Amino acid sequence: MLNQIDTILNEAKAELAGVNSLDGLEDLRLKYLGKRGAITNVLKMLGTVSAEERPAMGQKCNELKESITVIIEDKKEILKKAEINRKIEAEKVDVTFPGKKTRMGSKHPLTIVSEEVAQAFLGLGFSVVDGPEVETDYYNFEALNIPLNHPARDMWDSFYIKEGVLLRTHTSPVQMRVMEKSKPPLRVISYGKCYRRDAVDATHSWMFNQLEGFMVDEGVTFSDLKGVLNLFAQKLFGEERKTKFLPGYFPFTEPSAEVYIDCFKCEGKGCDFCKGSGWIEILGCGMVHPKVLQNAGYDPEKYTGFAFGMGMERIAMLKYGIGDIRLFFENDKRFLEQF
Ligand code: PHE
Repeated sequence: MLNQIDTILNEAKAELAGVNSLDGLEDLRLKYLGKRGAITNVLKMLGTVSAEERPAMGQKCNELKESITVIIEDKKEILKKAEINRKIEAEKVDVTFPGKKTRMGSKHPLTIVSEEVAQAFLGLGFSVVDGPEVETDYYNFEALNIPLNHPARDMWDSFYIKEGVLLRTHTSPVQMRVMEKSKPPLRVISYGKCYRRDAVDATHSWMFNQLEGFMVDEGVTFSDLKGVLNLFAQKLFGEERKTKFLPGYFPFTEPSAEVYIDCFKCEGKGCDFCKGSGWIEILGCGMVHPKVLQNAGYDPEKYTGFAFGMGMERIAMLKYGIGDIRLFFENDKRFLEQF
């Protein structure tokens, strides 16, 4: 029996030395210390030993059990530590590894141009205000001298939310909203989305962005308007730009004008870009109509003003040579990444 005990101990030592996982260790624990394990078997044999030998044998058995338990516990500690080290190793962050590139977006071309335009006017002392995109009939039409049966409504007839409430067709309603709330002198620009019942093609869209500007004070004249728009055109399209004012018509300005700049591609000689004319239309403008001033509660004998409105897509298309307005709204990254 002593032999057997030694054998078990040696075997156990050898086997335990070879084990390298916690699962494997648990298997061995059961094999030796389990209910049907090797040591239980040896203990059972104690019954066959003579009464004199039994205490010594019993002690041997206990020692065997003790030794194997200690070996297993030690091994368990070692394996646990190894496991933790393996985890640490696996989760280690290599700080020398090159980082993942985060992709930065870029500003939308309309944002770039509108900021540039706004900057030009901020430099002239204008301030920026916001207006609602859902507008009442009064501000969009009536207040701007476009009564219900006025033919000018036709081209602007638009998206109605309900009777008397529509998506604004231009940014000009902001003129009235500002005049009602403030007193001259006023120098204001306002930028935002407008909506018209336009069929979509390369130069038209049912939604577009407009920039409105106006100035009201005592003694504001048409030459102030020319001066401001000249500076603007030069700032945006080059120092050497010339402007041309042709008579135009808007119900809320009198006189009204369409403003052209000499073509910056051919310096006015005439090319494909300006369709041979040498001039490119950039905006509509005029002197604020006396009726509009009156509607705002201003005395048109005392105050005068000018106003202008430009489509920002058009300005951006000219500036960047973009051929199709739809590109602004399609969010194709290949287009947007170019700016
Ligand atoms: N609101 C006009 C349009 O949408 C532009 C404009 C603004 C004209 C201000 C004159 C004065 O076409």
